Amino acid sequence: MSELLRIQPALGFAGSAALPGDKSISHRALILAALGEGRCRIENLSTGDDVRATARSLAALGVPLELDGSIAVVDGVGLRGLSPPTAPLDCGNSGTTMRLLAGVLAGAGLPGILDGDESLRRRPMRRILEPLRAMGAVIEGRTIPAGEVFAPLRFAARETPLAGRDHRLQVASAQVKTAILLAGLWAKGITRVSEPQRSRDHSERMLAAAGAELRRMADGSIAVEGSTLRMPSSLRVPGDPSSAAFLVAAALLIPGGSIELAEVDLNPTRIGWLAVLERMGADVQVLHTHEAAGDPVGRIRAGNKGALIATEIEAEEIPSLVDEIPLLAVLATQAHGQTTIRGAGELRVKESDRLATTAEGLRRLGAAIEERPDGLIVDGPTPLRGGLVRAAGDHRIAMSLAVAALIADGETTLEGAEWADVSFPGFFTLLARLCGDGPPAF
Ligand code: S3P
Repeated sequence: MSELLRIQPALGFAGSAALPGDKSISHRALILAALGEGRCRIENLSTGDDVRATARSLAALGVPLELDGSIAVVDGVGLRGLSPPTAPLDCGNSGTTMRLLAGVLAGAGLPGILDGDESLRRRPMRRILEPLRAMGAVIEGRTIPAGEVFAPLRFAARETPLAGRDHRLQVASAQVKTAILLAGLWAKGITRVSEPQRSRDHSERMLAAAGAELRRMADGSIAVEGSTLRMPSSLRVPGDPSSAAFLVAAALLIPGGSIELAEVDLNPTRIGWLAVLERMGADVQVLHTHEAAGDPVGRIRAGNKGALIATEIEAEEIPSLVDEIPLLAVLATQAHGQTTIRGAGELRVKESDRLATTAEGLRRLGAAIEERPDGLIVDGPTPLRGGLVRAAGDHRIAMSLAVAALIADGETTLEGAEWADVSFPGFFTLLARLCGDGPPAF
């Protein structure tokens, strides 16, 4: 059952909005609170389906956890207090849930099965199984001839602790890094991870704040040792910068548009897209206001003013904007010149093959966009026209194409709009309000 949503061109876009709590921080806050000692009250937790999958799975591991909207109260059971689940843990659509909990099951030596929806069952898991197996975990997945391993993942019970060791990641992935660091909490000896580029560092910041023996070494690698965790008694999750990006993009693209967002997470490993917008000549102001969950937090103001200019996005920048590439491609359709995105092959193994689904969706709306093996080339500016587009089971594709639809000429039909609930429940209602509750009738 796929929801068809009709989107009319926007006549305006203005106002301010509260953002859902950051998805990455929300997953980590729940997991670290569960593994910690004592009670932790988490406010502004993401209400998206992905974070709910993590909460559900932790409850199935015997963690007392109460969830009421965006507030969670977690009674930590400590590293030795988890119980084996009595049924497979359903990670839904959430790669973060599956990969982070793989580190937990492996570290704790718990038997169990991690499973997910059709899309998650197609995502590569060898990248976590290999390092966890090298530490001593016994995990089976579905092995496909090409050598990749997919969920469901079956973990065998183990009495002996994992052995700490050095890991050199082939891809910059915060999910893989975090799975290893979490497993390292139970391991004997030191567990070290180095990555080709720095991925989002919420885990390092939050683990260190919870008292883990964690160090960033001179060569950039992260080392962790067996530790006891204690989360603060309360924690407020800052707003998700990846959700903010959709509203900022709409404000930049819609004539006369403007937006003001408060309490946005401004962790430098998450806001590469703001640097790209600056290069594109966009009118965006960022004001740092305070710290939360170990991150800088602040206000973003953006407005439609003047023309956007094409830019080049290279491999080194990708980890800091990995989730914003479909949306940056939407902006590039309206920028003067040719925008190139390179070194983004990882997008092919996200919730959908995002290089393919972005190119297909935008082409259906009249954009001049070409797919490369590891990136996209977009020529602009091109007037967009309404058409039929598909979310392809991917929340970020649903929301990126909805933003494109707001500046298209004529009506767009979006198939699978409900996928937005994975990270941004209420996205379409909010968009309608910011458009003036007028013609973009959702
Ligand atoms: C995430 C890491 C990124 C990102 C995902 C969330 C995280 O994935 O795309 O939305 O919370 O660690 P990778 O680590 O696989 O790049």
